[in-house]
Amino acid sequence: MKGIVLYKSKYGHTKQYATWIADDLDFELKDFSKFNKRDIDSYETIIFGSGVYMGKMNQIKPILKMFSNKPMIIFACAGNPGLEKEINDIKETNFNPKDLTYHKFFYLPGGVDFSKVKGFMKLLINMFHFILKHKKNLTNDEKQILKGYTDPTYYVDKKYIKDIVDYVKSNKK
Ligand SMILES: Cc1cc2nc3c(=O)[nH]c(=O)nc-3n(C[C@H](O)[C@H](O)[C@H](O)COP(=O)(O)O)c2cc1C
Repeated sequence: MKGIVLYKSKYGHTKQYATWIADDLDFELKDFSKFNKRDIDSYETIIFGSGVYMGKMNQIKPILKMFSNKPMIIFACAGNPGLEKEINDIKETNFNPKDLTYHKFFYLPGGVDFSKVKGFMKLLINMFHFILKHKKNLTNDEKQILKGYTDPTYYVDKKYIKDIVDYVKSNKK
């Protein structure tokens, strides 16, 4: 039976990881919006990845609903290079503890370039930036976020897919 990597990506970071993973495992690759629920049972292994926006993984609600009877591998891609607290926040905001025992979760570092953001989201970002800039005693994570407003970051690197690829291969034996 075959495998598939589904993704939802706004700025291409998740799509890049999904493409590398699909290539390495010889899996199909598909934007989640084009995936038909009827096809779930055609796949032995399903991987889903999406970007994190304001704490929420893109499309995570429909994913968890659609795959309530099929364990999958889920990866989040966000703007931090792998900070433990940020990764735990992503887990807590997006999953119940039972989701995380049923599905396998990974984190892959993406990047941020706030200059590419437009519209209402831009307004929210500017407000948050203002608050952080005037806050005293910033934590290290907050300092990192603040730096991200002026210095675009890009942590995407093929080396980070190794844990996911190894996990899939070791479960096939
Ligand atoms: C408007 C906006 C909000 C974001 N919110 C978060 C966030 O809450 N937490 C986080 O770690 N990263 C956040 N990020 C960073 C994205 O998760 C990061 O750019 C990710 O690589 C996007 O993946 P994609 O291009 O595949 O959609 C945000 C980025 C933007 C532009």
